[in-house]
Order: sequence, then C-alpha cells, then structure tokens
Amino acid sequence: MSYTSNVKTDHLRLKAWVEVIRHLCKPDRVHWCDGSQAEADALFAEMVASKMAIKLDEKKRPNSYLFRSDPRDVARVESRTFIASQKKEDAGPTNNWTAPDELRAKLDGLFAGCMAGRTMYVIPFSMGPIGSPLAQYGVEITDSPYVVVNMRIMARIGQPVLDVLGKNGFFVPALHSVGKPLKKGEADVAWPCNPENTYIAHFPETREIKSFGSGYGGNALLGKKCLALRIASVLARDEGWMAEHMLILGVESPDGKKSYVTAAFPSACGKTNFAMLIPPKELNGWKVTTIGDDIAWLKPSPDGKQLLAINPEAGFFGVAPGTSAETNFNALASCSKDTIFTNVALTDDGDVWWEGLTKEPPAHLIDWKGNDWKPGQVDKDGKPVLAAHPNSRFTAPARNCPCIDKDWENPAGVPVSAFVYGGRRMSEIPLVFQSKSWNHGVYLGATLSSEQTAAAEGKVGALRRDPMAMLPFCGYHMGDYFAHHIKMGKTVKNPPAIFHVNWFRKSAEGKFLWPGYGQNARVLKWIVERVRGIKPTAVETPIGAMPAKSDIDWAGLDFSDAQWEAVTAINKDNLRKQTEEQATDPFFVKFGDKFPKELTAERERIVKALAA
Ligand code: OXD
Ligand code: MN
Repeated sequence: MSYTSNVKTDHLRLKAWVEVIRHLCKPDRVHWCDGSQAEADALFAEMVASKMAIKLDEKKRPNSYLFRSDPRDVARVESRTFIASQKKEDAGPTNNWTAPDELRAKLDGLFAGCMAGRTMYVIPFSMGPIGSPLAQYGVEITDSPYVVVNMRIMARIGQPVLDVLGKNGFFVPALHSVGKPLKKGEADVAWPCNPENTYIAHFPETREIKSFGSGYGGNALLGKKCLALRIASVLARDEGWMAEHMLILGVESPDGKKSYVTAAFPSACGKTNFAMLIPPKELNGWKVTTIGDDIAWLKPSPDGKQLLAINPEAGFFGVAPGTSAETNFNALASCSKDTIFTNVALTDDGDVWWEGLTKEPPAHLIDWKGNDWKPGQVDKDGKPVLAAHPNSRFTAPARNCPCIDKDWENPAGVPVSAFVYGGRRMSEIPLVFQSKSWNHGVYLGATLSSEQTAAAEGKVGALRRDPMAMLPFCGYHMGDYFAHHIKMGKTVKNPPAIFHVNWFRKSAEGKFLWPGYGQNARVLKWIVERVRGIKPTAVETPIGAMPAKSDIDWAGLDFSDAQWEAVTAINKDNLRKQTEEQATDPFFVKFGDKFPKELTAERERIVKALAA
C-alpha cells in the first residue's frame, strides 16, 4: 500500500498476539490501521485497481464505492456460527456448539498460512464512544481491506483506541480471514472467500472471536454481531448489564420533552425504518431522533433509577432494497455520501439502484452479479431477475443521518423509558399492546416470532421463533438469558415499560391492514404518552393494555372504525390455543429447567385470562 501508518502501542499482550497470528497466518505484510481518511483512500484506490471495488460518480455519490460479493457469500451463515463454551449446556439448545479445544484445533489448521500473498490488517476498535463507561474494545485482525473500510464506518478505530487500551487494557481479540491464500503469482479474485470452510466461532469464556471463510457483513465485521451481541451478551450477563439487538430512538414532544425508546425486531423487519421514522406533519411537531438502528447496550444508571443506553456502533449496515425517499428518507440521506454499497445494482451514470428505490427502474443497469439488466428481465425458469440482492447493504456513517440525536455519542448513554418488541405477523397479533408487568414483558420478548426474511439463510416466509430478536445473537443458553432479563428488571427503580407491536397484519385478501412507516409514529406517540402517564387509561385485555381508537392521534389520517377493529381485534380462542401450545412447543421444551418459572407463570396466567 502507498500509505504508511504510524500507530503506537505499548500493549505487550496485543503486540504478542499480533505476532502469534502473523506466524500462524503468514501474510506478506502487516499493516496497523490508523483509521485516517488517507488510509481509507489508499485502500479504496487499491481495491478499485484490483477490481474489487467500483468508485461511484463523485458528483452523484461523493466518496462512495460499490462492491459485489461472490454469490455464495451474501448473508450471515447461522449454520456455520458456533458458541464454543467449555460446557455444551452453556451454549444452550439454540446455538451450534463444538468443544473449544476441538474448534481451536480445526481453526488453527484453517488459519495456518491462510493470509499468504495478502496484507494482514490490525484494526483496534471501540464499540461505543471511546472512553465511555459503557464502551468495549476489540482488535480485529483481517486480511480483507473491505473489512477495514467497513469497520472504519461501523466502529471507532485507530490510535485513540490504542491510547485508551494503554499498556494492558482489556480487548476482545477478533481474528478474521477470507480463507483464500494466494500462491506466488496467483491472481486474486474480486471477492475472495471460502464458503466450504466457513466458521464464525465465539469462545465466550475467553472472550475471543475467530471467523474464517466469509467476507460478508456480520460474518466479517466482527465488532457488530460477534462482539456487540454474542460476546457482549456474555459480558453483560457476568457484569449486570444488557446487550440487546435493539434500535434506540428519541421521541420529542412539541414541548421539547424527550423520551427514549429501544425496540427489537427480527432481522429486516423494518427496524432501520422505525429507527429513523419521520412522523406525519399533522402530528404537530412530534419528532423522532436516532441513536442507533441495530444494537443497544444498557446499564443501570449510577443512581440506580433507570437503564441508560448507548449505541455501540458508529454507522448503519442497512438493507438497501425497499429503502426509498418515502420509506426511509433519513437512511437514504445517510448514504448520500461516504458510503460503501454491497451487492446493489450500478446505473449507467455511475450511481446505485435497488428494488424499491424508485417506482420506475432505470432502463438499463448492471446487476449485483455484474451482468446487464433490464426491467422485466426473467431467468430461464421465468422468475424475475433481481437487480440488487435482497440482502444487499449500505454501510453509512451515523453522522450523515439528518435525524441523528444530539446525544448519540453521549458517553453516559440516554435514559430508556420503553422497550418495544415486534415481529412480522400476518394474523392474530394486534397492532400494539403493553405488558402488565416487567416479567410479562420478558415473556413477550421471549415468545417473539416472525415470518422469515432474507437477512439470513433459510426459507423466506416460514414463521420462526426469535426471542428478543436474539436467536442468532445470544452468546449463551437462552434460558439463562431470559433469567438475566428477569433479574435486570429488579436492578433499577424504574425499568422500561414493555410493549409489543405488529405492523404486518394482513387482511384475508393479503393486504396490509396498517399503513406502517411514518404512520407508526402514531403508535409511538401513544407509547410515550403511556410511559409519561398522559394516557393513564387503556383497554385492558388478557394479553395486555391496548389503546382505544380515541387514544391514538389520527390528525391527517383517515382510518375507519372498521379498519381499527381489523388491526386490533383479538381472537381469544386462537390466542389461547397459541399460548397453550407454547407449553409443548419443542422450541421452549428444549430449554428444560432453564426456562424460567416466572415465564411459565406468565403463560399460565394469560391462558387463564383468555379462557375466562
Ligand atoms: C442485521 C441482522 O444484519 O440483524 O442487522 O441480520
Ligand atoms: Mn440486526
């Protein structure tokens, strides 16, 4: 590389680890990342030269690049994700487990010589504002320059991290390789990877991450799902805090008062849209600001009154398809510059496009596989050819977001008033309801389920249970994780109120019954009014407290009584059956004794209430 960094560290353990990995992986050279613009520019220049990256038109999309992955490396691979705790029961029935020694031996074999012909990058990174009492530090070693430029957006990286680590600060070692060594003189491919030998391995007791074979997203940007969720959930359990797959938003009422809400939705359920929603203008001055779109770390405040939250990330790794000026103006603005796009389509004038960006697609594009594409094109089986992969992404700096909260980097975090859980459910689950208690809220999170989307492998459309949207991200036994949630409700005087939402209910004809997007602000407003005590009354139902139609602000929206009924009605018989079935649902049965008795009690209480 034409760029030489001169980062400094006296951290002997870190230097020793880097040496051990250099010996093991045998890269041609080692580069310590300083995170500067000059360094990123040099890396991008190299990747453009090697045809891994395409520079987008500087006027249309300043400082932005397009990457196309290998079609076999397009999403997180849960089937290859492992929690290698000493005891199998500590990983629990929802995680893949392999004995740590066995996995280490296997990985040592794969990592041996795996960086030949490549540069090994050392990326010191901070999850959370550097120096925050809620931040955690890691060092990712990778042979992917794509990972370096993405980590630079998604985390805080470079010398300031080494400075806080000092001589012996704690960091999570996170080793990554695309798993494709180059022989002398062998030409590289545009997206090296090794799908036959992919491992995303976590060693929770020793707080280590090792990822091999994939260069994509959560498999490779190890600060995100691997550190900030899987390893952090274990740290949080041990240290008395919470690492959750939650967005964080601020809701400001016209009097300037702000409340913070976190929300967990399974992957690609409109989480980024909800995090950045723009309330309809008729809601006279109610505003939504964004702290984070994916992950929240929450800790009891020093005075023990409430939970404080930070977003450990510094950027958004958002799903591109479906993002438009109508569905998410703020996300689109966030990626108007300084953005890395992966697996979207390229326009003839050097910009990007994806399904849903505009109503009319351009007349010609280069699709995510690098082929010519025209609207209406079908494959040999008559299926439409997508211009962008359904899990194509933008990596955009949070600071670009027009609605970023002024406290998004506040090292102390922001006080959280409400948790929201939501899934994609065509039937049965009403628009919104509030839990009767903290434990009832934990039950709602624990029983969360959603119809499957494209963010992970698996059959699209199938219903899957996804407790707290953490199924792929909990680094230990999920039954113990539920117990930790129950415990956390007792650690602060005012724990957040807990709500459940469903934007995705459909009519018998398959039409969505709720307009969604910005209109979700009406529900959010009710939630905030509830927690502020402004809406003390609600309709008490066996499953929780629901708003009466008159509790919702309808200014600017015609929504008939019949529509309201359709989106909020509950069928007690069906819900009772569904709730009863949880007792024998193999998903929960496999938790055995670890399924907290408090949650069983909640289930029994609800079944009784629904039968009454
Ligand atoms: C994500 C996910 O990529 O949850 O954020 O899958
Ligand atoms: Mn996510």
